[in-house]
Amino acid sequence: MATAKSFSTPILFISFLLLASCLSSASETKIKANVTIANGLAYGFYRYICPQVEVLVRSYLRQVFSRDVGQAAGLLRLHAHDCFVQGCDGSVLLDRSIERTELPNLSLRPQSFQIIEALRQIIHSRCGRVVSCSDILTLAARDSVFFTGGPDYAVPLGRRDGVTFPRPNQTFEDLVAPFAKTTEILTKFARKNLNAVDSVALSGAHTIGIGHCDSFKERIFPNRDPTMEISFFNRLRQVCPAPETDAATWLDIRSPNRFDNLYFVDLMNRQGVFTSDQDLFEDPRTRGIVVSFASRQRLFFKNFAVAMTKMGIVDVLTDAQGEIRARCNVRNSDNINDLESVVEKDMGSSSAMI
Ligand code: HEM
Repeated sequence: MATAKSFSTPILFISFLLLASCLSSASETKIKANVTIANGLAYGFYRYICPQVEVLVRSYLRQVFSRDVGQAAGLLRLHAHDCFVQGCDGSVLLDRSIERTELPNLSLRPQSFQIIEALRQIIHSRCGRVVSCSDILTLAARDSVFFTGGPDYAVPLGRRDGVTFPRPNQTFEDLVAPFAKTTEILTKFARKNLNAVDSVALSGAHTIGIGHCDSFKERIFPNRDPTMEISFFNRLRQVCPAPETDAATWLDIRSPNRFDNLYFVDLMNRQGVFTSDQDLFEDPRTRGIVVSFASRQRLFFKNFAVAMTKMGIVDVLTDAQGEIRARCNVRNSDNINDLESVVEKDMGSSSAMI
């Protein structure tokens, strides 16, 4: 007669195989962009030192977004603003960075910073101080796309957090203003190694989230921008009856909280909110890309995953560069109040060679 013990060994083994196949098929469903990644980054970078990092990010964000899906847009935008200015080094997270006080960053959602710090606490309490804030932000952006219905793509990890602040005005120089036209977008994106297809795909991030009157007022005051469709203009004038109105509207009127390709359908109907959005359809260099993304969501998703991967490796710090911050909003050298815990956590993670 079979004993409980003789049953349990094969059952355990079969369960292990099932679990392993589930885990591997889960990772196989992620798009892996065909992009040469920066030296020092790797898919599975935390495999040995914090194998649960991606699960921790995803399960926390699942809760956050179930309460307020708008936070997904905030996190996606925060990652882009980090990467465009001085590379994806978490500099935008620093309280004392001049970046934080410059106009383009004033409309970043305060909750986005809190969510990243909450994630850091969860991750560092499980693994020690081994995961950088810039990697946490990159994963949070990826999961923001995933949870709102967009592609699930693999993210190379191993970024280190920056210890320098950008120069004054660097934020203005590196980020594109909403009133910019396609020429400026293509020029500024090219400086970050992003081509026209990447630029249009990344602009497709405006399929979720909101924009304030201040960001598009010149399109509706004193008169309608002729490239804006009339009923859409009337709608925006209702949201913003005066140029100084402090209100916001969806960036994609067709499906504001869903990551899909309808933003490109908006542009074809001349219902893009910012000049920088609408001009992608008006400009012959990018119109064809807009039209192809509007008609083929899968094509958009594939190109978005590639473009996010390329954006996510802009000027990254790796290996011995930078640091792993003990708090995402403060450089370790400025973190006097937390010095003790910084040292403790350093010792705890010394085996990970960080
Ligand atoms: C052409 C370059 C871009 C311009 C000019 C631009 C401009 C803007 C502006 C002005 C806002 C709204 C700010 C406000 O009024 O509250 C915004 C929101 C947003 N942007 Fe962009 N952006 C650009 C590229 C990107 C990229 C590359 C991403 C991400 C990959 C992105 C993701 C977002 C998201 C998700 C929101 C909504 C944020 C929220 O709801 O809190 N943008 N963008």
